Amino acid sequence: MVIAIDGPAGAGKSTVTRRLAQRLGFAFLDTGAMYRAVTWAAIDRGVQFDDGDALLALAQAIDIRFDGESVFVDGVDASVQIRDPLVTRSIVHVADHAEIRSRLVGLQRQIASTGNFVCEGRDQGTIAFPDAFLKIFLTASPQFRAIRRADQMKAAGQYVDFDQVIADQKIRDQQDVNRPVGKLVRAADAVEVDTDNKSIDQVVAELVQLAESRIKTTGQGS
Ligand code: DC
Repeated sequence: MVIAIDGPAGAGKSTVTRRLAQRLGFAFLDTGAMYRAVTWAAIDRGVQFDDGDALLALAQAIDIRFDGESVFVDGVDASVQIRDPLVTRSIVHVADHAEIRSRLVGLQRQIASTGNFVCEGRDQGTIAFPDAFLKIFLTASPQFRAIRRADQMKAAGQYVDFDQVIADQKIRDQQDVNRPVGKLVRAADAVEVDTDNKSIDQVVAELVQLAESRIKTTGQGS
């Protein structure tokens, strides 16, 4: 059974998804980590980002595995390296490559077929799991999303210029909805959950309730 969670950056997706999975006793699939893994492998092995064929060959050749929160690429634990800012800046070359997306979506389906999963990522309810048991689209106003982003930056000891945070967010939103492939779109049958003015605990409680009531009404156990 798959619960798909999509939504814009800054709506608290990854924390909420992890906690929801824990509460339901489901596994968590961090699909962003897969795009990060391919990007990191390209940097590590000197594959040029403007060489789409070489990038695809790499994405098809490497073995990506999860063990709890850890991500392994060809058996090497790359959990820390895939969060490097250089990976984050370069990921667009991988995320905008249609055939790499197909390969990773295939892997996501294969992993999710092994049990009950909460899957997070911008195409989960639309492309990867159009028949997901429950689709959630987490939203937040630009102001709240920027406040969360600024808080994360402060916690990481970074200097915060709030106007700049808002400006960067606008650019990223524009890029996200205008991507050639893997656009952020709300699935027609997704339940939209607004996270403004809500704590993580409140959002998680709302999602647990949504999932449990759907499990009850459909008679599907976990
Ligand atoms: O969630 P994250 O920041 O780890 O995601 C990393 C990047 O991967 C982000 O730019 C969006 C992209 N991504 C994607 O294109 N498709 C997904 N299913 C998940 C993430």
